[in-house]
Amino acid sequence: MCGIVGYIGNKDAFPILLKGLHRLEYRGYDSAGIALVSEERKNLNVYKTRGKVADLEHFVESKDISGTIGIAHTRWATHGEPNDINAHPHYSQSENIALIHNGIIENYAVLKEELLRKGYTFQSATDTEVLVQFIEYVKDSNHTDLATAVHLALSQIVGAYAIAIIEKNNPDFLIAARKSSPLVVGIGEDEFFLASDATPIVEYTNKVIYLDDEEIAVIRREEGLKITSIENVEKTPHIQELSMNLSQLEKGGYPHFMLKEIFEQPRTLLDCMSGRINVEGNNVVLSGIFDNQEKFRKAKRIVICACGTSWHAGTIGMYLMEEYCRIPVVVEYSSEFRYRKPVIYPDDIVIAISQSGETADTLAAVELAKSHGAFIYGICNVVGASIPRATHSGSYTHAGPEIGVASTKAFTAQVTVLTLMTLVIGKVRGTISEENYLKIAQELLKVPAKMEQTLQLNEQIKEFSKIFTYAKNFIYLGRGYNYPLALEGALKLKEISYIHAEGYPAAEMKHGPIALIDAEMPVVVIAIKRGMYEKVVSNIQEIKARKGKVIAIITEGDEIVKQVSDYYIEIPDTEECLVPLVASIPLQLLAYHIAVTKGQDVDQPRNLAKSVTVE
Ligand code: G6P
Repeated sequence: MCGIVGYIGNKDAFPILLKGLHRLEYRGYDSAGIALVSEERKNLNVYKTRGKVADLEHFVESKDISGTIGIAHTRWATHGEPNDINAHPHYSQSENIALIHNGIIENYAVLKEELLRKGYTFQSATDTEVLVQFIEYVKDSNHTDLATAVHLALSQIVGAYAIAIIEKNNPDFLIAARKSSPLVVGIGEDEFFLASDATPIVEYTNKVIYLDDEEIAVIRREEGLKITSIENVEKTPHIQELSMNLSQLEKGGYPHFMLKEIFEQPRTLLDCMSGRINVEGNNVVLSGIFDNQEKFRKAKRIVICACGTSWHAGTIGMYLMEEYCRIPVVVEYSSEFRYRKPVIYPDDIVIAISQSGETADTLAAVELAKSHGAFIYGICNVVGASIPRATHSGSYTHAGPEIGVASTKAFTAQVTVLTLMTLVIGKVRGTISEENYLKIAQELLKVPAKMEQTLQLNEQIKEFSKIFTYAKNFIYLGRGYNYPLALEGALKLKEISYIHAEGYPAAEMKHGPIALIDAEMPVVVIAIKRGMYEKVVSNIQEIKARKGKVIAIITEGDEIVKQVSDYYIEIPDTEECLVPLVASIPLQLLAYHIAVTKGQDVDQPRNLAKSVTVE
């Protein structure tokens, strides 16, 4: 939700900031802006416009973009519609200070009223402009410098923020701070970078510091970096090394990141399993569980908290853990859980699942569960993000940076981690038979090859997806492990093609959605020869009897479903609990090709953002 980037050093700031914005565009793309201090002309130039980063690039042509210090922002609107004026950076009243912000200032209305009374005027409808004005007011009324003013002002701010600020008369000074929104400082040779995540930094340096909540980074050209608390107590920075590589951030010949990420899944699953499962498939090790075996042995309940696609992965985790670990599992939307006054016991294990590791609601759910004494386990993709830092233990998914806004490879990596966890917890608790342990672990090792085989269907899926661009609605049906997958398939389609789609448990269709079925309605059915196969075949018959168009995902060689469906996609057979991993591929490709045929922007669908750092 909004990407921020900053630079101070001896190079031209503009190209570094612009490239950084492109990398962060997945976080929001309704408007973008940049502020630079031109040392030569002693100007603080702010350029901003509605639209994408490419529009900003166009907008600044023939403008003064000189300067070796600057800040830049790509926005996902919260307060104030996406337009030129509401875009960041925002000036202070005197236009001496410029600020960019990711987050929400909750007490902005009170502060704004106070400032209006004192004669301040506002250009935009944003909470961010209130913050920069407030900082200037504190600075002027206390006759102090910007660093002190920022400390004083932030002590009165309620809400979430990652901010970066520069000043017209101070081209050697950059200040940034965070609370509940991510901020990374990159340390180069006589230069420093700021960004919402490490992707804009990685090509310049691999040394980074992930700022903690309520920390302020003060960077001066001569003295370098100093990190303090809001109360101005100096902190010892913890410098970490990035393991990301640059090629992971490029499209690598694919037309979209989403397609690249779909095709990466055999590789990402191998990376996810690497070092955790031996080649014989008879030993699975997850250090995060191994080091806390007693907790998992004694736990009475598992609560999974997540949002969006991660919630779907969590629901598959519930099916896995209840079947093989014999422990009650509930799956919660983090946003509901955190406000519901939930009952949380100290012997609960709370699993927080988040690709970005920054989702505000999931982070709040983690904090709430922690305050009740529960043991918190994280499943995250972005190393060093806020959620993995807030949990007691966890496992990274190691899927590499996911740039397409619609999650694909992170989802299958999450399901893989949940499968590995099930095997380990099942063993720790003595609830999984040796036979099932071996069967699942050995079959899991074969899944990447089966995904590879399924990816060969890309052209076939592309061809018949053209038929469905007419549709206004879609239904997705599945049972058991494939019910959450039906939800995920529907979510993928609606996110990127803007076709309304509903996922349903196949047997529930007769309690409502069946009324929607007519000759126009495409129904995607995951009809694999496992689990409740015959019952799903009956559901297909019910759809056909009402002239619905059935697109079935079937087990290779299944002649029965072939005959009753209008279109079918054959995938290799695998263990029932592993079907969602292989069957994800055709669902992702179907959504992708329908959206591309409709001419939609699949990597940056309207209104969405990849990292949701607001409630
Ligand atoms: C947004 C993204 C989804 C994602 C969800 C949860 O809505 O567009 O793709 O599933 O947030 O994000 P998380 O990073 O917590 O998995």
